[in-house]
Amino acid sequence: MNHPCYICGLGSCIPPRVMTNHDLEKLVETSDEWITTRTGIKERHVLEDGVNASDCGVSAARAALDEAGVSPEEITHIFVATCTPDYLCPSTACLIAGKLGISASSGRMGRVMCMDFNAACTGFVYGLELARDVVAAHPDAMVLLVATEALSRRTNFTDRTTCVLFGDAAGAVVVRGSDKGALWQVRDSVCSSDGSLHDLIKIGGGSACHVKEGDVIGADWFISMQGMAVFKHAVRSMTEESQSILARNGVSLEELDLFIPHQANLRIIKAVGERLGIDENKVFANVQHYGNTSAATLPVAMEDARRLGLLRPGMKVLLTSFGGGMTWGSVLLA
Ligand code: ACO
Repeated sequence: MNHPCYICGLGSCIPPRVMTNHDLEKLVETSDEWITTRTGIKERHVLEDGVNASDCGVSAARAALDEAGVSPEEITHIFVATCTPDYLCPSTACLIAGKLGISASSGRMGRVMCMDFNAACTGFVYGLELARDVVAAHPDAMVLLVATEALSRRTNFTDRTTCVLFGDAAGAVVVRGSDKGALWQVRDSVCSSDGSLHDLIKIGGGSACHVKEGDVIGADWFISMQGMAVFKHAVRSMTEESQSILARNGVSLEELDLFIPHQANLRIIKAVGERLGIDENKVFANVQHYGNTSAATLPVAMEDARRLGLLRPGMKVLLTSFGGGMTWGSVLLA
């Protein structure tokens, strides 16, 4: 995989409706103090009824395309990382293509490859690896990678062990082989998984959920998780994957400008930073405002870091994530 690959547009979409810890105190037996101490989360955003993952995703996509100066007609591939697609079929990628006005009659005979994939919270990292592969095979490709989640639709708001953790959001990037308008080069990526750990995090609603018309929806419809086992795996996998990608690229921690880990829990973020031994000022966190938005956390964090002046084009940035599957991985930007 030798052809260089660049991010030339970045965008995010945060639903306006906010749900605070105090709002959750009214739904389950919990407290702002417990949630803040155990997770760092203060609030999360949730989609309004009738607004779906594809709607949030298309807003993020438009922002990324605007920045890249790329029109929808120029896109060759749309990849959507999501574990909460609008439907099992059609793909959220096809819905986003339709909302962007890309169709078989829009001039290119519909020659846009559209697909969703599910690597849970590692979706954005897996997606950048996919984009690199596509650009290596087709150097003229223009890839729109969208990470969008509507986790509130699969959150059990009677289960205090999970409902305090998640939120909705989307992020998107435009990836191409040319350095025209480049913000960062996607220098390297590494993706891993361990399917023997598939039971640690589950979101129901797939074909394993046998629901007949008139049935009451059961607990297996919602997110379930073995919190502490996930916590331990998250710290170990993100630390090791980060060390591995830095070593194989000969980049030291001192050379890194910013470290953006998956935003699931402030304690996990701090533990990974400490194990790596990276300056805490270089570790970015915004989980306080959004909770865990799964695949969307990394592009949303990149956009927030940029807005705060902490992330600028050409900086050396390490992204790392973990999620259901289990999956994990890292990306080095420069
Ligand atoms: N409010 C008050 N008390 C609570 C709450 C709550 N919201 N949730 C759990 N508790 C209670 C428990 O019942 C337990 O009580 P007990 O001791 O009487 O049994 C106590 O608090 C401690 O519970 P633990 O589960 O041991 O708390 P822990 O410190 O492990 O924190 C947490 C739980 C926050 C879930 C943590 O384990 C975690 O963050 N794990 C990782 C989760 C994660 O990152 N998932 C990401 C992947 S999701 C995806 O891929 C889509």
